[in-house]
Amino acid sequence: MAGVVKMPSQNDFARYRDDFPVLARPMNGQKLAYMDTASSAQKPRAVIDALREALDRDYANIHRGLYALSQTTTQKFEATRRKVADFIGASSENEIVFTRNTTEAINLVAQSWGRTNLKAGDEIIISGMEHHANIVPWQLLHDQIGIVLKIIPVLPNGTLDMDAFDGLLSDRTRFVSIVHVSNALGTINPVETIIRKAKAYNADILVLVDGSQSVTHMPVNVLGLGCDFFAFTGHKLYGPTGVGVLYGRAALLNAMPPYQGGGDMIETVSFAQTTYKPAPARFEAGTPAIAEVIALGAAIDYVAAIGMDNIAAHEGMLLASLVEQLETVPGLTFYGTGPDKAGIVSFTADWGHPSDIAMILDQCGVAVRTGHHCCMPLMQGFGVEGTVRASLGLYSNVDDIISLMNGVTKAHKLLGA
Ligand SMILES: Cc1ncc(COP(=O)(O)O)c(C=O)c1O
Repeated sequence: MAGVVKMPSQNDFARYRDDFPVLARPMNGQKLAYMDTASSAQKPRAVIDALREALDRDYANIHRGLYALSQTTTQKFEATRRKVADFIGASSENEIVFTRNTTEAINLVAQSWGRTNLKAGDEIIISGMEHHANIVPWQLLHDQIGIVLKIIPVLPNGTLDMDAFDGLLSDRTRFVSIVHVSNALGTINPVETIIRKAKAYNADILVLVDGSQSVTHMPVNVLGLGCDFFAFTGHKLYGPTGVGVLYGRAALLNAMPPYQGGGDMIETVSFAQTTYKPAPARFEAGTPAIAEVIALGAAIDYVAAIGMDNIAAHEGMLLASLVEQLETVPGLTFYGTGPDKAGIVSFTADWGHPSDIAMILDQCGVAVRTGHHCCMPLMQGFGVEGTVRASLGLYSNVDDIISLMNGVTKAHKLLGA
């Protein structure tokens, strides 16, 4: 019937789980409960097939070959650029730069935009819950040109202290770089408000959003957010490793110098002078991850067909149940208890070390992450070395939660006695 959107049911989500071959393999003699999607997502068969096909049917180098095979591969590669632009609501595929991952995307902005536009004493605001990928590139700029890093504090419930943010904005503020969804806490940050406030303070302040965790858990629209840059990584979006994305507004990208030099990013080269192609090509020196970019297109087709709203609703329902059940376990402390959360739960136990808990969970077939989650300053702020983190994906189900709960109960019996 026209105009009626079909919502996937829980049965549909059970079916999607069968799309992920690795989830069918037993782990330590148990059914695998993969709860480390925030670190890297498992791959659906559609992505595995696209990767294989890109290698065994359509493979050639791109952009430069006049022969049909190269042209087909180029078309498939560039089709992913258009899919990414549509998926995140960019105005044009020319605003999509392929990088190796989020880390490289942020380093690109720091080194290209930052080194060109910043001087000693200029201020960049980040938050206390950033992944190292959104801290260290700015610290390098501090060492290289003397910029000053200012940090939005994190409140005890794992949300940002937005009043403190207001106080950090100053006449020296040039850039804000902020994580959309915390990989360690699951907190969904009010990035629209941050962008609006920064730009109201000074329209020239630029904002980068680290969308590594948000693109995987919820719909994202960069124009709606009003950000200048947006970075994410393919392997967390059910795609392959080795490919990431930097979105940048076209005018900004075209005003930025290349970050790396080499083939495919130039217009002409002579020993006297080299001229560069417009964005995005000027930021894609050398042969890219061709097959992986094509397979990222398959990953986007896959999640778009399910619908990011539906994925968010499915994970939201499981998250509520996971939190409710974990809260019944004595001695747990939770990190990231604010109202807006994606499918990530972080906790410590007063009866056991996170690594010991994770090892017992592993014996029960449950894969969780422990440690600082590449957020050492955040962990220091909470006064812990690390946490146990369980994170959900579109393939997660109630059985995963039951396995996790059985594992945590066993760990409590063994370690807490
Ligand atoms: C919020 C966030 N930012 C950045 C990264 C870095 O991603 P990558 O290692 O793929 O560059 C991660 C990965 O865990 C992340 O969760």
